[in-house]
Amino acid sequence: MLPLKEATSAKHKIAERMPFNARMFRGLLTKEQYLLYLNQQLQIFQAIERIGLPHTSLKRTENVQADIVELKAQGNSAELVLNSTKAYTDYLSSLSYEEVLPHIYLNYLALVFGGQMIKKSVPSTGRMYDFESMQDAVQSIRAVQNDNWADEVNKGFDHNIAIFEELESHCLIEN
Ligand code: HEM
Repeated sequence: MLPLKEATSAKHKIAERMPFNARMFRGLLTKEQYLLYLNQQLQIFQAIERIGLPHTSLKRTENVQADIVELKAQGNSAELVLNSTKAYTDYLSSLSYEEVLPHIYLNYLALVFGGQMIKKSVPSTGRMYDFESMQDAVQSIRAVQNDNWADEVNKGFDHNIAIFEELESHCLIEN
């Protein structure tokens, strides 16, 4: 069996190169666009955190909410929950704790790795990317991750890719 990272690297490459993500990485998102993205991230973290986490240091909901409050205070609004986000969170909510772990690997390590690079480019303080103990957070996921998660992680990537597509189409409508 391939190591998990290798078995999911093709989808990682696709996700990383989605136009919305690429623009975020290059610091080209408006506050309104970034706020819309944060609202989708909030739905995902809430759905997961209602089920459970392997370590409290992973908790993201309050950090994302603080980023949202910061941008709203500057007069931006983006309450919308995209259809693709709803589809993913409905799916996540149907999972048991054991079943949601691959999605924790996916969505939380995304913030640890790519996220630390992206933090510098987003139009907010970026509390979503801050962990009190990055080491505890990563270690708690590494301790449970399993190479037989590849299909489920790839499914999670597909959901994330669909969300990036829908985010992009919103940006095009706006401009
Ligand atoms: C601009 C966007 C992104 C960049 C630049 C980026 C970059 C990176 C980098 C540099 C790593 C570490 C690779 C290594 O260990 O050699 C990584 C790992 C990872 N990324 Fe991304 N990433 C991006 C988007 C995403 C997205 C959208 C997701 C999923 C929603 C994601 C999920 C992951 C996961 C799960 C890992 C951990 C793989 C492992 O070590 O097991 N990334 N990313």
